[in-house]
This record gives sequence, structure tokens and C-alpha cells, in this order.
Amino acid sequence: MKADKILLHFSQVFCGIDKGHPLRGAEMNEAYILEDGYIAIEGAKIIDVGTGMPDLQLIDENTELIDCTGKTAVPGLIDCHTHLVYGGSREHEFAQKLKGVPYLEILAEGGGILNTVAATRKASFQELYQKSTQLLDKMALHGVTTIEAKSGYGLDWETEKRQLEVMQELHQKHPLDVVATFMAAHAIPADYKDDSNTFVEKIIQEMLPEVKQQQLAEFCDVFCEEKVFSAAQAYRLLSAAQSLGFAARIHADEIASIGGCQTAAELKAVSAEHLMVIRDSDIERLSRAQVIGNLLPGTTFSLMEDTYAPARKMLNYGMAITLATDSNPGSCPTANLQFIMQLGCLQMKLTPIEVFNAVTINAAYSIQRNETVGSLEAGKNADITIFDAKNIDFTMYFFATNLVSQVYKNGRLIVNGGNVLR
Ligand code: NIG
Ligand code: FE
Repeated sequence: MKADKILLHFSQVFCGIDKGHPLRGAEMNEAYILEDGYIAIEGAKIIDVGTGMPDLQLIDENTELIDCTGKTAVPGLIDCHTHLVYGGSREHEFAQKLKGVPYLEILAEGGGILNTVAATRKASFQELYQKSTQLLDKMALHGVTTIEAKSGYGLDWETEKRQLEVMQELHQKHPLDVVATFMAAHAIPADYKDDSNTFVEKIIQEMLPEVKQQQLAEFCDVFCEEKVFSAAQAYRLLSAAQSLGFAARIHADEIASIGGCQTAAELKAVSAEHLMVIRDSDIERLSRAQVIGNLLPGTTFSLMEDTYAPARKMLNYGMAITLATDSNPGSCPTANLQFIMQLGCLQMKLTPIEVFNAVTINAAYSIQRNETVGSLEAGKNADITIFDAKNIDFTMYFFATNLVSQVYKNGRLIVNGGNVLR
């Protein structure tokens, strides 16, 4: 087979490694890494990866040879936890936050998530679409090729549906892939304030079957937290979702540990997310149940806490972990997955290899896209992020600066010189 383009002479290619399951524990520090590497692409796919000069059989007069001297290539980054689609912003709560008003207190007073719910309900499809496109563009500029996105700023069917439809349209029209998660159980709407069970039933009876029928999401998520949804409510909702064919995720142990991890383990959720205040017994539980730990250090940072999820301990217990932005208008307003990865190194003491595996192959497993993305190897999609850096260590050491120079999605150049190409 002839390549239509070959990117060559990378000072480093981090291929990652796909072992047929998410990398767990010590496996997370394994990867194929090539010096003077090349990546041969035909159409949307990678057809070969190697070192030095590619085999002449890959090359004919139509093959474009692209010199990448001095650069580093990695599998397209996957942001596997975002709240991409919402109306408005919450910088007016920033002053309260700086004064130390707790996140859940702002929410209890009708602000926080509920503030964004009001703005999202007011926003039209077109407004949400445009705003989310801009955010998605920024994510692409930082090297991301695929994201997971959650609804949950509607809490009523009309707005939840609109959010999911925006994601669907973005998935079709934007260069990035968007994998949708239905998360109506993100906060308790004001009209169900004292009756959250009825709201959970409404989600189960009225919304979930519609989401399924209209194929608007693959995953279902719930915010299991003190004064939000209990572990029992999360169990009830996620088991109903699973019986309809959704895969389960759960926001657990972000601020208080109230049993979300037990629910995740019992239901064999794909992923338990946040885990800032997780107990050792729950680490063991998640490890045994093979639930992926999705860690969001940007949220800890932005909430000005020091409770970074105990990533190293999780690896010692043999867990698989991912890292993601949690991009949202409240607890982590950012589009920069690179900075989150750097927090993975600087605050969680993960190695650069562990960090890159967390946002590539393990992230791919956590959104069930491991067959097509997550590592650089023949047969997978040519989703490639290229850094202006000699090696992956440099990309983690030189922090809070966008080092991405190019991004390829399905073999097509989509980011070049700080612009998203369409
Ligand atoms: O994952 N914790 C719940 N949801 C988001 C925050 C959403 C918001 O504040 O708007 C999170 O941190
Ligand atoms: Fe979140």
C-alpha cells in the first residue's frame, strides 16, 4: 500500500500502547517511543509507524513527505470529561469564590450550576452551537482531537435535548469528534428542590427512553454529591440507564465521599470521575471492579483546594486512570488539556508517560473508541497531535504554554500555526 503522506524525522513519536484493555497500575508507565520516527498515512488511517527512512514500498510519486525535525508526535489527545455546551459564564461568582465561599454553598443559594441552567434554557440552538464551536476550536488548538461532552445544564427535557442535539451537530460538522453523555442528573432543579426522587423518576421514565430512541447519547452520568444526588439515587438512575443500553459514568467523591464509588463498582460503571476525596477502601473497590478513575486536577486547582485525587495510590492499587479538563463554566473554566496534563505531573507526580497514556489510550477506552483511536499504530485513525518540542518530557516541563504546532484528524490537517482549518 502507498502512503499519501508521511510525516518523518520526528525527534520523538510517542505511539502509546494498546494492550486490548485500559492500562492499569504499572502498565501505565509503558509505551512504544520512537526516536527519528515516521508516521505513514493513507486516507484517514495510519498504515505504518517506524524509525528512520520509511520502506520504499510505501512511497510513490504522489506521496507527500513532510519533514518534522525537532518535533514530537503523540496520538490525538482525548478530553474524556467536558461540559462543553452551555449558555453564559460565571465570572460574577469569581469574587465569591476568591473570598472562600464553598462551591456547594453557591449552588445551594441557587447559583453555580443553576445559574448556568438559567442561561442555557434561554439560549437558542444556534447560540449554543456557536458558543460551543468556539470552545471546541480552542480545545483543538491545544491538541485535542476527540472529546466526551455531558448535558446537564437544562434539567428539563427541552433544554437537555437541545444540548445533546448541539453535540450531535458538532460531531457531524466540526473537525473534532464529540461523544455524548446524558447528564440531566447534574443538579436538582428549583421546582424539585424538596423532592429529588420525583426528579430522578422523571429522568428515568420520560427522558432516558427519548435519549435512547433518538440516539442522542451513549453514556449516562450523575452528580453523586452531598445535597445533590445520593448514592442510592445514582444507583437507581444508572441501573435504569444500563438496562436501556447506556454505559454508566458517575461524578463521585468530588467534595464529599457519600458512596458514589460503591455504586460505580456495583454497577461496573465505565468510569468514576473526580475522586478527589476517595477513601482507600473505595480505591480497592474500583480497582477490583475495573472501573476507570477519571481524574480532573484542573477542578482541584480552580476550586483552590489541595485535594488532588491520589493518582499514585490508585496506580499502586492497580487502577486504570484517565485525566481530563472537566471544562465547564464553574469549577473548571478552561480549554487547555495540556495544562491539566501538567498538573498531572506537577501535582499528582505522574510521569509524562503515565500522563500521555491517561489522555490517549485509556481515555479512548473510557469513551469506547479504543478500536479506532488512542495509539499510533497501523489500522487506527490518523489522529495525531504534534508538539514543538523535542520529546514528551519537554511538553510537560515547559508549562502553561500552548506547544501544539499541528493537529491531524482522520489524516487531515485541522490545526496549523494557531488556526483551526475547515
Ligand atoms: O464536574 N460537579 C459537577 N459538575 C461540574 C461542575 C459544573 C459547574 O459548576 O457548572 C464538575 O465539576
Ligand atoms: Fe464534571
